Amino acid sequence: MIPKSFIQDLLNRLDIVDVIERYVPLKKAGANYAACCPFHNEKSPSFTVSQSKQFYHCFGCGAHGTAIGFVMEHGGLGFVDAIEELANSVGMIVPHEAPAPGQTQHKVAPDLYELMQSVTRYYREQLKQSPRAIEYLKKRGLSGEIAARFGIGYAPDGWQNLESIVPNYQDSSLLETGMVIVNEDGKRYDRFRDRIMFPIVNTRGQVIGFGGRVLDKGEPKYLNSPETPLFEKGRELYGLFQAQKAIRAHQTVLVVEGYMDVVALAQHGVEYAVATLGTATTPYHVQKLLRLAEQVVFCFDGDKAGQKAAWRALENALPQLVDGKRIGFLFLPVEHDPDSFIREHGKEEFEQLLHDSLPLSGYLLRELTAQVDLNTPEGRSALLERAKPLLIAIAAPAAALLLRKEVAALAGITQAELEGLYAIKPVGAPARRVPQKAERSAITGVRSLLRCLLAKPELAGELPVEWHVEGNDAAAVEALVEYLREQDHVVSTAAIIQQFQGTPHETVLASAEADILQWGEEFDVAAEFLGLLSRLRDEQRKQQLQALHAKGLKGMNEQELALYRQLSQRG
Ligand code: UTP
Ligand code: MN
Repeated sequence: MIPKSFIQDLLNRLDIVDVIERYVPLKKAGANYAACCPFHNEKSPSFTVSQSKQFYHCFGCGAHGTAIGFVMEHGGLGFVDAIEELANSVGMIVPHEAPAPGQTQHKVAPDLYELMQSVTRYYREQLKQSPRAIEYLKKRGLSGEIAARFGIGYAPDGWQNLESIVPNYQDSSLLETGMVIVNEDGKRYDRFRDRIMFPIVNTRGQVIGFGGRVLDKGEPKYLNSPETPLFEKGRELYGLFQAQKAIRAHQTVLVVEGYMDVVALAQHGVEYAVATLGTATTPYHVQKLLRLAEQVVFCFDGDKAGQKAAWRALENALPQLVDGKRIGFLFLPVEHDPDSFIREHGKEEFEQLLHDSLPLSGYLLRELTAQVDLNTPEGRSALLERAKPLLIAIAAPAAALLLRKEVAALAGITQAELEGLYAIKPVGAPARRVPQKAERSAITGVRSLLRCLLAKPELAGELPVEWHVEGNDAAAVEALVEYLREQDHVVSTAAIIQQFQGTPHETVLASAEADILQWGEEFDVAAEFLGLLSRLRDEQRKQQLQALHAKGLKGMNEQELALYRQLSQRG
């Protein structure tokens, strides 16, 4: 665990402009800096960096965050790794609080990466010397060129081969990287023995783990590195480093299940494939991939396990959907996986299947309706029940609207009835009741309050002790004020953004970030805040008055009566 205060100090010490400039050239644009977004493909710059507030925001794809967030996103690093890297760059040493029980302490020394690199080199050398391993790869249709591109190697048989390539086989780095295992007697031995080795590489080209396949029959077929300080399975994708260029060029990324699938596809010229690492597709994976390309297609094996994996991917994709981007599902014939299919039918036929892949909406509706009988009310009600968690998960407005309409139509009800039934906010339709003027300004008031507090966190001290707001984003403002009040010192905008990263309030804050970037240099936040406070007070007074009116003079107790007199005197 890294203490929160350290993260705040680090953010204060860094300059986000320097950090981002290491990867992306920035141009001054008014009060801010701008560039073409590194997270999606674009021709005119909508990626904006605020130096004064120390955050970035892309008006095109919505990518946003602090210097820490940038390094995580751009480098594909975990939170702790990103902090280590940034702290290093300014000569700070990351303190680690004792980890909570059950949690592993993460520490990434640069030598762990070096170790992984020398192991990779060793395995590749060993491959050259093993006719049996070479024969195996040839039999699977791989050329030397492709094997080199993916750094494929061979871990020879034997218990302590790695001893020959490290100065000290007892060093903790071997254990930390998962390259050795300790048995009950405390003796160490190599994790990978007599296996074809697939290095798992992060987006910066560093080896962070391995997958090892048996050459003959044997269990397990694939042995993978455990999760280590370098390697977090839910965040990494096999082959992404090698595929990056092709993904950009095709604006498509293909997600498959296996190491061999990625490699065989590349061998046949389909270079934009990546694989999840023996885990389900996570929401993080989907988000990362949707930023890289216009289209993400999941291709799972035709078998039962493949069907299950596809549905899991769909569930995890729903919250990440982005209107205008496509998610497709490709189902291969039962007897095939991408490797066997492309070897038998070739690139053209494979890309034809890809082209004909089922859109997410089609897959979702197909699966939902396959399980129920739409001719009976019971069946239609079961459909509504099954569809509920799925529809609720969709945040993209157009996708949500279209799918709600479809499901409602299938169930023979209207969209409004569906929304009423699920108790969710309507999308698309104009609000039936135009809100009262006071109500409307109260809502924009909340948004504006959020912007002010984010831009100038010290303003939280000016809020009355007792205050309350209503409206869409009230929960976000309340959480923000609570956080600010808990701190014993004023925190920066960047610290707030970092604090709320990954929480339910992240998106609301992101839109406030976007607003702030559009303020001119002469914008007076304090004045806006004061105006706002007096409006909020007025509105609260009006609401209290209305509530009291509704009770009538006779219905009020003494306290309420006094309040009523007090409130009605003031204008
Ligand atoms: P598959 O069993 O479908 O293997 O596992 P495959 O990719 O077709 O492998 P080949 O063609 O027989 O060589 C798909 C993926 O599931 C994970 C691996 O990531 C594998 O690539 N897996 C599978 C494991 O992690 N361990 C296993 O024992 C099996
Ligand atoms: Mn296979």
